[in-house]
Amino acid sequence: MITSVKEILNKAKEGGYAVGAFNTTNLETTRAIIDAAKELKSPVIIQMTEKTLEYAGGRAIFNLVKNIAEFYAPEIPIGIHLDHGKSLEIVDRCINIGFPSVMYDGSRKIYSDNALITKNVVELCHEKDVCVQGELGSVPYIGEGEMGEIDWDKYMTIPEQAAQFVKETGIDALAVAIGNAHGFFKERAVPDYDRLEAIHKLVDIPLVLHGASDWENDKVQEVISRGICCFNVDTATRLAFVNSLANSFRDQHNLSFDIRKLLGDAQHEVKNTVMKKIGYFGSGGKI
Ligand code: G3H
Ligand code: 13P
Ligand code: ZN
Repeated sequence: MITSVKEILNKAKEGGYAVGAFNTTNLETTRAIIDAAKELKSPVIIQMTEKTLEYAGGRAIFNLVKNIAEFYAPEIPIGIHLDHGKSLEIVDRCINIGFPSVMYDGSRKIYSDNALITKNVVELCHEKDVCVQGELGSVPYIGEGEMGEIDWDKYMTIPEQAAQFVKETGIDALAVAIGNAHGFFKERAVPDYDRLEAIHKLVDIPLVLHGASDWENDKVQEVISRGICCFNVDTATRLAFVNSLANSFRDQHNLSFDIRKLLGDAQHEVKNTVMKKIGYFGSGGKI
């Protein structure tokens, strides 16, 4: 059942657990996420980036997710969301397609520009009942930083500024930077838990943690207890998919030419990865 992302997040916030927001690019990943959520009776968010909309076609991928969710998992709350929208134009395009939730990511802009454009996005979206995630501070990508080292102070969310940002823009959820990073192996050694706690005290909307692919259970629990109620996961599921294909191709003697076998195995591995994450997040059974 397609469900408002705001409702899914607020329920998690009140319930003291988190939901996963998993990126999809295709049929197999979408089926894997939905099958995992169905098996664990977990609410879930399925999201797509601009690059995926270009790759798959915006309407094609949106309707693929919507149809699978509605037909195969009518009992599971499933949110559909634009991840890392970087302009008003892409937000507008997604609203026209039917996306019920978007992220506007102005995190690399100076504060005043980020706040102004985010506020405009919120005005546009709320008129159409579309919910909006903003980002303040900035979650780095793997490969950024001189000599491989990241100057974390440049990226971190400042708690007082976060409170101001939420008030000024009217966003429904906030992505925070507390030492998390996109992709594997680049996190700050220990997340800034005190900073998260301070943000949580000042900000009363759901907090989202991007780059959760390599977050194991202990760190996940620490940040849930300090207000995170959504984790974004992409790299881990991509890796599961690609590793499965690589393993299939390694065994040349038994290589199948049935694409459904190759992609079906990959789908199975993605499903296992999503189930493991849902287990950490504590959203199983929360439908
Ligand atoms: O956080 C965003 C994604 O992991 C990057 O995905 O390659 O689809 O832009 P993309
Ligand atoms: P990872 O690829 O590190 O899981 O990050 C995903 C993400 O933040 C999507 O917005
Ligand atoms: Zn992200």
